Amino acid sequence: MSQSIQFRHGELIVPDQPVIPFIEGDGIGKEITEASQRVIDAAVAEAYGKTKKLVWKEVLAGKKAFELTGNYLPDETLEAFKNYLVGIKGPLETPVGEGIRSLNVALRQTLDLYVCLRPIRWFKGVPSPIRYPELVDMHIFRENTEDIYAGIEFMTGTEKAVKFRDFLINEMGVDKIRFPESSSFGVKPVSKEGSVRLIKAAVQYAIERKLPSVTIVHKGNIMKFTEGAFKNWGYDLAENEFAGETFTWRQYQQIEKQSGKNEAFAVLESARASGKVIIKDCITDAFLQESLLHPFDHSVIATLNLNGDYISDQLAAMVGGIGISPGANINYNSGYAIFEATHGTAPNIAGTGKANPGSLILSGAMLLEYLGWYKAAEHVYDAMEHTFSKRRVTSDLYSMMEGATLLSTSDFADEIIRNIH
Ligand code: NAI
Repeated sequence: MSQSIQFRHGELIVPDQPVIPFIEGDGIGKEITEASQRVIDAAVAEAYGKTKKLVWKEVLAGKKAFELTGNYLPDETLEAFKNYLVGIKGPLETPVGEGIRSLNVALRQTLDLYVCLRPIRWFKGVPSPIRYPELVDMHIFRENTEDIYAGIEFMTGTEKAVKFRDFLINEMGVDKIRFPESSSFGVKPVSKEGSVRLIKAAVQYAIERKLPSVTIVHKGNIMKFTEGAFKNWGYDLAENEFAGETFTWRQYQQIEKQSGKNEAFAVLESARASGKVIIKDCITDAFLQESLLHPFDHSVIATLNLNGDYISDQLAAMVGGIGISPGANINYNSGYAIFEATHGTAPNIAGTGKANPGSLILSGAMLLEYLGWYKAAEHVYDAMEHTFSKRRVTSDLYSMMEGATLLSTSDFADEIIRNIH
């Protein structure tokens, strides 16, 4: 009997046949959704036989929704994600001039999905621009609701921009606006609550998965009260709420100051040996270099919205690009989660069978992990790696691989399913 997933006392209660709402998506959405559901179903069947299965329930959004209902994001779709808690979506075309800034943003805001989680791992055989891609195993926690992305902007010349400028100059004593007459303005809200809940999710994830470190990535050297505060709130959280399970770089520096380098290093080594998660920080520009040069030094990454946007794409490119890069938007306090392909609708290849369904398949595997169905997720990862290592790939990877065999979207899914069995 199919049932909805529940969330009680901070835990997901997952029935054997949970209903999973899905949005097919625009452009290549139909092809990759069909392919990924077949792979996920095969992995669940291989892991649990007839005892467990996902019950897919289509809900409408995007172009298909507009054609069928006259609405890009019908209320029933939002209700379904609220009722069933965990869902998945293909890419959605952003309607131009329809009064909705972005359907993705609307979904994230309605369900307050404050974590954008992007795991970055390399699969053997996938072409990579870096020398040791096998050392990459990073998990990005990007804050999803605040920062410059909140969309508080005033265009130069408008009444609001003039009012805002005058307020800054006359009432706040701001004298640093270089060209006040022609400036547009953007506001960057970063709250303690918003920062702490994001960093807390990252630290808990590292503890649960026995990962070695959390790097707080920020530009606090310049933006002291927003990004700098983000870092400090992160350290405060780790030292107060996770004292037994973490050791922070800030604590290291205090010990070094009081007792010297050797003592500080000894405490750090002992923390590592006892399995504590090391909490450190890194300035964003340095991190973009660091992640290329020493990817193995970074495991979980907690960062603000805009930094997370840049970092996600760079790290995805290091392991094969957006065609195979999965993602999820999650609220760990309510259980709501939407897993998603991270790329767009790829209108240039829609309907040609060229699309790589890898991103949505791996997002499905993340969904399985979120439900606690780890065995099924492992089947997906193993079969995918086997398929890549045999160089049987879709056209995006085919053009970068010597001696590869070109497969269509659907044939690629069939190949993975064969490898699952
Ligand atoms: P895009 O990601 O759709 O395409 C960029 C390039 O990557 C294209 O050459 C495309 O063919 C290729 N590509 C993307 N996914 C692929 C896959 N699975 N397999 C093989 N090749 C793939 O980005 P673009 O062109 O900027 O956006 C197109 C539309 O998608 C826009 O309407 C945009 O708003 C929307 N979009 C939606 C997103 C979402 O729903 N999460 C994210 C990004 C864009």
